[in-house]
Amino acid sequence: MKQISIALLGFGNVGKAFVKLLLKKSASLKKDYDVEFIITGIFTNSHGYAINSAGINLNKALEVVDSGENLKIISDHYVEQLDANNFIYTCSAEFLLESTPLNPFDGQPALSFIKTALNSGKHVVTANKGPVVFGYKELSEIAEHHGKGFYFESSVMDGAPIFSLFRDALPAIKINAVNGILNSCTNFLLGLMEEGNTFEEAINQAKLIGMTETDPSADIDGWDASVKLSAISTVLFGIPLTPLQIDRTGIREISPEMIKEAKDAGEKWKLICSMRRKDKNLLYATVKPERINSSSPFFNISGTSSFALFETDILPGLGIVESNPSTETTAYGMLADVINIIKKYY
Ligand SMILES: NC(=O)c1ccc[n+]([C@@H]2O[C@H](COP(=O)([O-])OP(=O)(O)OC[C@H]3O[C@@H](n4cnc5c(N)ncnc54)[C@H](OP(=O)(O)O)[C@@H]3O)[C@@H](O)[C@H]2O)c1
Repeated sequence: MKQISIALLGFGNVGKAFVKLLLKKSASLKKDYDVEFIITGIFTNSHGYAINSAGINLNKALEVVDSGENLKIISDHYVEQLDANNFIYTCSAEFLLESTPLNPFDGQPALSFIKTALNSGKHVVTANKGPVVFGYKELSEIAEHHGKGFYFESSVMDGAPIFSLFRDALPAIKINAVNGILNSCTNFLLGLMEEGNTFEEAINQAKLIGMTETDPSADIDGWDASVKLSAISTVLFGIPLTPLQIDRTGIREISPEMIKEAKDAGEKWKLICSMRRKDKNLLYATVKPERINSSSPFFNISGTSSFALFETDILPGLGIVESNPSTETTAYGMLADVINIIKKYY
């Protein structure tokens, strides 16, 4: 049986969900893939870090972080002031799984962490869109140079296969356009407003159930959707596009009156992402609220679900719906990336 070692950079919602998924699937991974995973390092911002080359006790790690303690109490190796880059060099892992917060303006510091990991001979899987948008070409080249994988399925639509679909199942196809609902939070908020809530009431409800950040502007103002569209353009259209180059309008101006007017007419407001190839190196990309009727494929995409509808030169319409994802879905996208890297490189 192969033993594969993984280090986790980031142990928040996604990092913890990944560990829980590993625990849940451990028996079937051994049986179906003849592989056993061990986590040899976990690094956080404010909960310290743990390194153990024989494998960290994962239930204990979850307990330590959930109780607000420092991971050093379960670490075999500890020096004060070890930074993330030193952690990457120090922990003996074949994979680095990166799940630190998104920086939509330059992808840092995650981009540097991933560069360090690839240069130190690790495969990298990330759930973070920032390094994909701002470093895809460079990081892919470094990975290729070292014979390592750099995969990022969970960065857009969580665990739904977008990047691997085009990478593995649909070679030699040309994507001409994509339209979709890519931001769960705004779709959820607009749904709450359809139920009669004001914008502020919807945000407060979303905050209460952890659907949005304390500062929800990244979702509401369309930044998160723009970063996702940028990742799709950079990777799948082969045209690098930053979020600032996208014609972006959020949902702040959608009033209860507008929602009611649409509802009375049997219509809905949705935050729609659209991108169309203009010529070889040019795309037109928008993120904006649109009033749609029941004939739209987006009409029934409710709650936290998302939908990407691709137009290609061969398949005129190819849609991927992800219904009500959770952090387990995101963790699954990372696990799928790890398994796909093992299939390709081992
Ligand atoms: N949540 C989702 O469902 C989801 C879905 C798709 C993609 N993503 C992406 O996945 C990433 C993680 O999301 P999340 O919800 O897990 O975030 P989170 O709960 O805030 O966790 C972030 C983790 O990164 C650590 N961290 C923060 N800054 C760091 C730094 N400078 N160096 C090293 N570690 C640092 C944090 O440390 P502390 O523990 O000390 O705070 C925490 O462990 C983001 O890029 C997000 O966009 C998330």
